[in-house]
Amino acid sequence: MRKKIVAGNWKMNTLLKDGMELAKAVEKLEKEKTSDALVIIAPPFTHLSRVKELIEGVKLAAQNCASEEAGAFTGEVSPDMLRSVGVEYVILGHSERRAYYGEDDELLNKKTKLALAKDLRPIFCCGEVLEEREAGKLFDVIKEQLSVGLKDLTREEMANVVIAYEPVWAIGTGVVASPEQAQEMHKFIRDLLAGLFDKEVADNMTILYGGSCKPSNAAELFANPDVDGGLIGGASLKAEDFLAIANAY
Ligand code: PGA
Repeated sequence: MRKKIVAGNWKMNTLLKDGMELAKAVEKLEKEKTSDALVIIAPPFTHLSRVKELIEGVKLAAQNCASEEAGAFTGEVSPDMLRSVGVEYVILGHSERRAYYGEDDELLNKKTKLALAKDLRPIFCCGEVLEEREAGKLFDVIKEQLSVGLKDLTREEMANVVIAYEPVWAIGTGVVASPEQAQEMHKFIRDLLAGLFDKEVADNMTILYGGSCKPSNAAELFANPDVDGGLIGGASLKAEDFLAIANAY
């Protein structure tokens, strides 16, 4: 069954104290929410174990993980380490990781496979930049990102993957994709998954939209048949806004 999910990507924001306050506020509002959406938060690594103690209904995600299991990889955080502090999801392939840290589709495929092997559920991001959209290459870009990023995954593994379509031109810009643009791409992604895997995998896949999603535009985005929720950046830093989005179904 396809889940409705609203996930908050805090990025490199909040010090520990503020992050703990935010997590508490999200947990409180989650208890009062009116929709059946699953609420996930992705605080910075440094906050994860403390935040975990404050949440119950809200699920915990990391914003990245290593592509290696353990060993001499200075500065990296392994999937096992994340699991050991109660993390259940991991955002992989965010456009900021791709653009600023050179993460390519092959590396993301390696991370995705390792995360799944370690019982972490990837929230796998894809998205085109504006030039690619304007040049009419948007579908080719998404096809490449997903077919390489999800290469050799089994149907069973795909049941633990969430996909997030985040047009790069919409991230943090205040320019949101129109409901038609979101639906068009989400449908394309679902059809692509049916071809790469099968129809059951495609029908059961939760596909989130991300990029300037706010309380004011969430309802019209989520009303689309192939949009199953949102990956929220800026608006996830305010508990009221974030939960208003979760209630927008
Ligand atoms: P935004 O970010 O909501 O601030 O546009 C979304 C994201 O990067 O996941």
